[in-house]
Amino acid sequence: MDTYQKLQEAAAYLQQYAGKSPKVGVVLGSGLGNFVQEIEVETAIPYDQIPHFPVSTVEGHSGKLIFGSVAGKPIIAMQGRFHFYEGYSTEDVVLPIRVMRMLGVQTLLLSNAAGGVNPAFTVGDLMVITDHISFATANPLMGPNDNRIGPRFPDMSEPYRKSLIQKALQIGQEQNIKLHQGVYFGVTGPTFETRAEYRLIQILGADTVGMSTVQECIAAVHMGMDVFAMSVVTDLGIRDEENVITHEEVLQAAKAAEPHFATIFRELIRSI
Ligand code: HPA
Repeated sequence: MDTYQKLQEAAAYLQQYAGKSPKVGVVLGSGLGNFVQEIEVETAIPYDQIPHFPVSTVEGHSGKLIFGSVAGKPIIAMQGRFHFYEGYSTEDVVLPIRVMRMLGVQTLLLSNAAGGVNPAFTVGDLMVITDHISFATANPLMGPNDNRIGPRFPDMSEPYRKSLIQKALQIGQEQNIKLHQGVYFGVTGPTFETRAEYRLIQILGADTVGMSTVQECIAAVHMGMDVFAMSVVTDLGIRDEENVITHEEVLQAAKAAEPHFATIFRELIRSI
């Protein structure tokens, strides 16, 4: 079965829940699943009930597609996402994003827990992603292109919509929440980076590094969506002192920063 047919079947199954025509899709990163409390949930569908959806496995990702509303706006939210390091194909990683587009979603809000490589960042900081570097992970558009999904060579000059970035920065000012701006470096994981890798990533011009987001962004841009993304800095890769990074620490730091993250996402959704 080709990709397009899978997308159609998944979308056809989900159509029954999309009565309010959600135009906004939200992907909740590691430790950020509590954002669900901001959602007036109508239906939460475990991924394993949706045709062709892969099943999420990592701790901290509960794996549900949620239909509901935030600030009165109908949305679809992914509580838990699929990562390349889990062994999924890139096509599976981006399948839910493409299905959201098939259901009519135009604006995609992505979030992630990320390592900070900008020396000005501290744990718990939020960074609006203005651009990304994706060549350290597999591109989800590799392989034959299906023109029904998008063009062969998509432009990536504005992967993250400038108007959404401006809105978020304004919300940050109004709500007194400090927001950095910067470049996210996509890696495959699942190892955290070595000291030399964190340093290289910094030298290459990135501010945060993580194992998600870029593939979803690429698939969304391919289908003509407007993308916004934000990193929660959960650890620092460039400290001189002993610098052991654990998944537990990442989840804990993301949870601690979650209220500020939730405010930005809620108000951004309100403004769309
Ligand atoms: N590196 C890669 N991915 C991550 C990190 C990191 O330091 N922190 C959270 N996700």
